[in-house]
Amino acid sequence: MDNILVVDDERNIRALCSRVLSEDGVIEVHGAGTGKEGLQMADDVGPDVVLLDLRLPDSDGMDVLRALKGRHPEIAVIIITGYGQIQSAVEAMKAGAADYLEKPFEHLDKLKLAVARALEEVRARREIQRLHQLQEKQNRVDQLVGESEATRQLRDMIGKLARSEAQTILIHGESGTGKELVARGLHYQSTRRDFPFMEVNCAAITETLFESELFGHERGAFTDAKSAKKGLMELADRGTLFLDEVSEMALNSQAKFLRCLQERVLRRVGGTRDIKVDLRIIAATNRPLELRVKEGQFREDLFYRLNVIPVHIPPLRERKDDIVPLARNFLNDSNLRSHKTIRGFTPEAERLLLNYPWPGNVRELRNLIERLVILGTSDYIEPAHLPVQFSAQAPRAAQVEPLDESRTLAEVERAYINQVMQKVEMNKSRAAKILGISRQTLRKKLMEE
Ligand SMILES: Nc1ncnc2c1ncn2[C@@H]1O[C@H](COP(=O)(O)OP(=O)(O)OP(=O)(O)O)[C@@H](O)[C@H]1O
Ligand SMILES: [Mg+2]
Repeated sequence: MDNILVVDDERNIRALCSRVLSEDGVIEVHGAGTGKEGLQMADDVGPDVVLLDLRLPDSDGMDVLRALKGRHPEIAVIIITGYGQIQSAVEAMKAGAADYLEKPFEHLDKLKLAVARALEEVRARREIQRLHQLQEKQNRVDQLVGESEATRQLRDMIGKLARSEAQTILIHGESGTGKELVARGLHYQSTRRDFPFMEVNCAAITETLFESELFGHERGAFTDAKSAKKGLMELADRGTLFLDEVSEMALNSQAKFLRCLQERVLRRVGGTRDIKVDLRIIAATNRPLELRVKEGQFREDLFYRLNVIPVHIPPLRERKDDIVPLARNFLNDSNLRSHKTIRGFTPEAERLLLNYPWPGNVRELRNLIERLVILGTSDYIEPAHLPVQFSAQAPRAAQVEPLDESRTLAEVERAYINQVMQKVEMNKSRAAKILGISRQTLRKKLMEE
């Protein structure tokens, strides 16, 4: 339903607007008698259009207009002026008002028409904004980067599932593996993409809040419920609901949610009617749900309902082929964002990245690269730039031989280089690769002999 707010100190103007505009039952009209009250209501009810009297008992209408446009730039404001106030109406239009109406309203059709036009304008503005956001998100979503077999399969599966009618999907993976990215991918590649992707983090929300957030509430359902509110499930109708950290949902909420999941209907808090919703539900967890079931913290029936189509994202250490492509990709991003031109990683640095176990998975990799780029001053990222825990995963070369106190580092290095050269039948490219240095460096080291 469209929301209109009338800010005017004359009670009969408010009543008239309310009567005329809510006639067809598609517009809800709120009224405020002062500027202060008007701004407060605008925050509370989020109107699409405000009808604003320029002469208010407590404030200058122009100030109210500016405050409104400042706080809610998407709202369309129609100025109401008294007879002979055309000049101020013109000024108001310059300050961002969409239109003006003169009091007394002689032709009620004019009022209706002005409101209809303003609503149209707001809708168009919102649509453009939404398309912009959509495009941004989509660009991001196509970037499930990685060359590992696991990631290829994942991209494949996302494509297939997105196009399918699958109603419930459960994503499992350690923290930072890309669960949210996959969930968004599933939404934005599906036919549901033109409808909302709504997200709720089950760990970050209390049991009481969970219900009103998800199911919404009727007016008066509890002390603060001054007006009825749609919940996320209703708002996500025809789109996707993403339940993040679903393992942390309170047991009571689980019971209530189970019904929605089974019947795809919900009841607002304090409400009596069932509301049907068409939703794809994607849940994500980094704790194995089976374990939570065993611990008695997760309902078994809900688990089976959610686990219709499980999608597993392996940890980064189990898909090493992704590490370098991801690192390069994040390097490009970070370069762009911080106006840097770091060109890459030395082979030895790449090797350290590959040997590291990445407990924080892709997120840790992304954060690391971002930090390196911000702090970086050289052309290439070298081992010395990486945090100590990377070198602690010592390259095996350092441990090849038992301790011999008579040997210098240079001697050990030379011996190791020779050993490698023998092994690769003197092929310098292959040797350089194993040693993690460039061919030029290898050539220099060989010349030193
Ligand atoms: N394959 C990938 N390609 C590109 N970026 C990725 C990939 N996987 C993860 N990322 C990025 O890594 C970061 C973490 O991903 P995301 O938030 O999806 O992980 P998560 O599994 O939801 O983590 P958590 O369990 O902590 O919520 C994000 O910035 C995401 O864009
Ligand atoms: Mg997440």
